[in-house]
Amino acid sequence: MPKIVHVVGARPNFMKIAPIIGALADYPSITQRLVHTGQHYDHKMALVFFEELGLPRPDRDLGVGSGSHAEQTAAVMVRFEAVVAEERPDLVVVVGDVNSTLAAALVAAKMGVPVAHVEAGLRSFDLTMPEEINRLVTDRLSAILLAPSADGAVNLRREGVSERAIFVVGNVMIDTLMAHRATAPWPEVQAALALTDRGYAVLTLHRPANVDDPARLRTLVERLQRIAAHMPIVFPIHPRTARRLEEQGLRGESDGLRLVDPLGYREFVALMDHAACVLTDSGGIQEETTVLGVPCFTLRDNTERPVTIDEGTNTLVMADGRLLPAAVDDLLRTGGKRGRIPDLWDGHAGRRTAHILARHLGVEAAEPAAVSGGASVSRLAAHEPPL
Ligand code: UD1
Repeated sequence: MPKIVHVVGARPNFMKIAPIIGALADYPSITQRLVHTGQHYDHKMALVFFEELGLPRPDRDLGVGSGSHAEQTAAVMVRFEAVVAEERPDLVVVVGDVNSTLAAALVAAKMGVPVAHVEAGLRSFDLTMPEEINRLVTDRLSAILLAPSADGAVNLRREGVSERAIFVVGNVMIDTLMAHRATAPWPEVQAALALTDRGYAVLTLHRPANVDDPARLRTLVERLQRIAAHMPIVFPIHPRTARRLEEQGLRGESDGLRLVDPLGYREFVALMDHAACVLTDSGGIQEETTVLGVPCFTLRDNTERPVTIDEGTNTLVMADGRLLPAAVDDLLRTGGKRGRIPDLWDGHAGRRTAHILARHLGVEAAEPAAVSGGASVSRLAAHEPPL
């Protein structure tokens, strides 16, 4: 029986793998194994997502934990090499751009196992971002490149990737968002945080470029406080950022930010869905806000997800937040950008992905009729996005 090993490691990976594992259930002859590298390990950063998203328990937990980039990448490589040697998969599936993604792709490629990269082709063209290095190397090593939007395919072609290896399948993270949006627990979140619908902003911040430099962090917090004069800013805080704020003595209500522990997935979806705007340096949140139709101000100088700016609700306000005051003025005046949902961000990207992976393994769906709505994967051509 053909075997796929899926690799996840950090918070944003879990919502990407869930729809793929789910859709591959339509191909019962494919054996699936799930490996969690343990890059993220706190309950609120990892385990809660397994529970909420209905992910199977990982077959292997590599328990690598935190460390420098080299330590973390190397630890995943050493432990994942043993897993590949034992499991002997026909295909390794990696998602996103975290250190675990790169490490697993390196190991599989060197052991002669084809790699499928979900979220291929995204480029910020900024090599100071560790994620950009991870994206470039992972794509270079992958045999199957699954891009969330057409601009990803353009980047890959420009880098000389064979047309036969590129598939524009849409955005799997949006599958998960669409599956959970309707039941996201807004009444509970609203009551717990005493919020009014569209009367608050949501902030997430964790990139080293934003939080590791004390002067940058202080400037950012000052700029954010000016928004807090207009509306409360709810700030579910990443462990790295919590430590940095504490070191700088910036923690607390007096800074105008309402710090809360990292939220579960469904709570966070509810929080975003009812916000006046979202401020973030995350990648995936730029995409999620575009689909929710909530204005997003991205605290970065660039983005690997330009479709969220061109078509969606995203605006770059720079890593130091210098364009934030003008953006917030505009929001208060006009209600902000509404945008449109990019092509193929339709809730069916997992099915299209499963179809491509199965075809690579020479397997047909047991019940092709199970694919309904959106694009029919049977019409999928190698390098053509489905209609
Ligand atoms: C990682 C990804 C980033 C992604 C982010 C989502 C890389 C290079 N970066 O960044 O692309 O957007 O995850 O959250 O892979 N920590 C805990 N508990 C945890 C996890 C981390 O306390 O469960 C602390 C550790 O002290 C660690 C720090 O947070 O030093 C940073 O964790 P790390 O995995 O290195 O990267 P992230 O900043 O989370």
